[in-house]
Amino acid sequence: MKLHHLILFASTLTFARGAENALKGGRSEHQGERRLATQQDLDDAKKEIIALIKKETRFLLAPKLVRLGFHDCVGGCDGCIDLGNADNAGLDKPIDALKPIVDKYATEKTGLSRADIWALAALTAAEVSQPGNRDKVPFPLEWIGRVDCVDDPPTDNEFPSPNLATDGLLDFFFKTFDFSPEETVAIMGAHTLGVAQRVNSGFEGDAGWVPQEDVLNNNYYTQILGANWQQFKVDNSDIRPIPDRFQWKKGTGGGFGGGGGFGGMGSDIFMLDSDLAIARDFEDSLVEATGEVSCSIKQKASGCPFASTLGFVEEYKNDNALWVNDFRAAFNKMLTTGYKKDSPDCENAPCVLSPK
Ligand code: HEM
Repeated sequence: MKLHHLILFASTLTFARGAENALKGGRSEHQGERRLATQQDLDDAKKEIIALIKKETRFLLAPKLVRLGFHDCVGGCDGCIDLGNADNAGLDKPIDALKPIVDKYATEKTGLSRADIWALAALTAAEVSQPGNRDKVPFPLEWIGRVDCVDDPPTDNEFPSPNLATDGLLDFFFKTFDFSPEETVAIMGAHTLGVAQRVNSGFEGDAGWVPQEDVLNNNYYTQILGANWQQFKVDNSDIRPIPDRFQWKKGTGGGFGGGGGFGGMGSDIFMLDSDLAIARDFEDSLVEATGEVSCSIKQKASGCPFASTLGFVEEYKNDNALWVNDFRAAFNKMLTTGYKKDSPDCENAPCVLSPK
């Protein structure tokens, strides 16, 4: 099926080395010759992405750009998303929003690909979502050279089930991105941003995973460890083929503010099995097909056994700077999936990837 969103153009451009002046921000001496994007091109595109994020008022765009970056890189970052796959539901929004910037910057002249712009947008979205106006940790795009798919998007990419227990979660991220358990725990903190919508995924997640769903920080880990969690079933019989879902909400009796909340804020926040799996290992109590878990998750209490990754969750909860740093490293690694970093003599970003 051809997807109208995807103007699939071959961008297997040869990133000829030797364009040193281009890397330093100058123009290629040879007009019309394909050249490497300059840092200036990336800076200009980044400015437009920031303006786009600020301008979009119909929905919170930054989290959707972060999610797009992740989904594009499952199976290798290739600038193509199969919108016929239910796991990608909702990603038409960031794809459409970015299209004018893709059309402007992913050209033969710059040699940038759509996948490069999507990666730049994902990193930029994470960067600007940090709280405050100062001291934001920069999330620069250091590597370009991703190659867009030239035909229909691959349909065999496997996205992680939301019903994963600890081993399944670690397994997915190891196989798909070569992530260690620590990197897996760090990347899951992306869920500090954004929401889930029943029409997309069947989860009632309008309130997000944390009370401030537009702020990138370590609050995801604080929430996971700081509350009692109770599972409930979402009836999706009105929106089939989306299945009924089991998800978690804050229960009573835990948390810092009493009543399971944090000073009354964010009591509607939710978690998926695959979120709580970084702290609790409910493998033996999980019905994988539905996501139903029969053991309990009470703050610091027994019930579902603690996961082998619990120590990382505690570390990230206690140290936002550590988490931001580790999250950025893991996200950058994810955003180069399918490529080698063997660009010779690359001292100045942007450096050029080559396909594996
Ligand atoms: C086991 C792994 C994961 C599962 C099962 C999962 C599942 C989901 C689901 C079900 C949604 C809601 C979609 C909707 O209803 O619109 C969602 C949203 C989101 N995911 Fe994940 N996710 C996983 C990992 C990740 C990773 C690794 C990232 C980024 C690096 C990420 C970033 C996001 C973001 C930012 C949103 C919010 C999007 C929005 O606000 O529209 N997720 N995820």
